[in-house]
Amino acid sequence: DQDPRIAGISSAIRIIPDFPKPGIMFQDITTLLLDTKAFKDTIDLFVERYRDQNISVVAGVEARGFIFGPPIALAIGAKFVPMRKPKKLPGEVISEEYSLEYGTDKIEMHVGAVKPGERALVIDDLIATGGTLCAAIKLLERVGVTVVECACVIELPELKGREKLGGKSLFILVEGE
Ligand code: PRP
Repeated sequence: DQDPRIAGISSAIRIIPDFPKPGIMFQDITTLLLDTKAFKDTIDLFVERYRDQNISVVAGVEARGFIFGPPIALAIGAKFVPMRKPKKLPGEVISEEYSLEYGTDKIEMHVGAVKPGERALVIDDLIATGGTLCAAIKLLERVGVTVVECACVIELPELKGREKLGGKSLFILVEGE
């Protein structure tokens, strides 16, 4: 049985065809942020799931993991750690490369932001191919952090990104196409 809040969240996400290129159905979460009930329900659903799991780190992936991550972190009493695109963080970083359709990209995290043995939740707005979340998991595991779960508002199941997470559990609220 689906939580009654999910339908409202789903309908608050706007789909923009052919953005940023032809054939892509862009899942626009900015309209979700305008809907005070749907936005609060989104955060509440994550908080209810993670509040009693001894999580001390919420790691958010740039850019939209920076919107959903901090309110969850505050509510469950965890710190927020940004995982950024290259050359944005000013301190010493560790980075993890991942492949795109053409070429590669990278995410970075500050050295010392997390300690070995900490338990983390990784959050982003959307999982497509899974490359970004896979890199985030690797980065945290390289420094001895346990990734409890990854969480996204939206999954594009056709892209099978879930299979790239090496058996790591993924929690999502809605499916897109
Ligand atoms: C989108 C999305 C995820 C990532 C998922 O970000 O917000 O971070 O792609 O894709 P994947 O599962 O195939 O790795 P985008 O590339 O649009 O970057 P942005 O957040 O900086 O706009």
